[in-house]
Amino acid sequence: MTNRQTRAFPAAKLPLSIAAVSSYLDTDLLGSTMAVVRSADSTNKYIKERISVLDDGFVIIAEKQHAGRGRLGRSFASPEGGLYMSLLLIGQNHIENLDSMTVRAAVAVKNAISEISGLSDVGIKWVNDIYCRDKKICGILAERVVRKGYCDFAVLGIGVNVTTPKSSFDPSVRDIAASISDFCSVNFSRNELAAAILNNLEKTLFVKDKEKSALILDEYRDSSVIIGRKVYITNGEKTVIAEVLGIDDDASLYVRYEDGVTEIVRTGEVSTKLIGEEEKE
Ligand code: BTN
Repeated sequence: MTNRQTRAFPAAKLPLSIAAVSSYLDTDLLGSTMAVVRSADSTNKYIKERISVLDDGFVIIAEKQHAGRGRLGRSFASPEGGLYMSLLLIGQNHIENLDSMTVRAAVAVKNAISEISGLSDVGIKWVNDIYCRDKKICGILAERVVRKGYCDFAVLGIGVNVTTPKSSFDPSVRDIAASISDFCSVNFSRNELAAAILNNLEKTLFVKDKEKSALILDEYRDSSVIIGRKVYITNGEKTVIAEVLGIDDDASLYVRYEDGVTEIVRTGEVSTKLIGEEEKE
């Protein structure tokens, strides 16, 4: 644990509770039904296992997870000191626009973290990671559940490293993962952060107007920590270096490889890593 982590954050240690989160909540749908648990295997899984009995906008928040999942089947380290939450969205529209939902969620979560922590240099690394100073402080996982004969469902999971000690991260991500407490000493509670995330999500997820939707995408691009940078692009076993030229309207990445060839890289099975991340501490 760093010095910064030991001296700050008494409020971050306050337990999560429905009453405390609700006291900061300013939403119509998200969090109207909610559960707070001390531990879950994965909050996304919690929702998927109970999907037929949960309400639209249901939120579950956990103090820790023992089988947290990330994109591409990876695990997501979820010890105490973090905030792990998932929400249920019912309806075909969310399912069809999972990429757009990821973009909207990233913008909302980035804004919530900035608002509550006071950090101005929080950004988004394509496609769904929230970064601060080249370190990952939060991951987002949007999943679809399609059931014939039923409504369709989307589950949106968000994991934030608030005061997570570095030693709790898997060695494979220790060089890129960090906690908010590594960068600031603002004294906020995870209840406030959870509510701010939901408040901001409600502002972006349900926007239907085309112009307003385009503004959210612009904000996603403006917050990108990847545009103009060189990255490793991994697809299955293959990793190549490319410069990121931009982000398309459908959230695809526009890149130029070292041989000069340009390509559109779609979300899905691809992941990116900033070059230089692993050398910086
Ligand atoms: C990623 O980094 O690839 C996405 C990580 C998403 C983690 C969150 S924590 C809450 C929810 N439950 C999970 O098992 N995963 C998501």
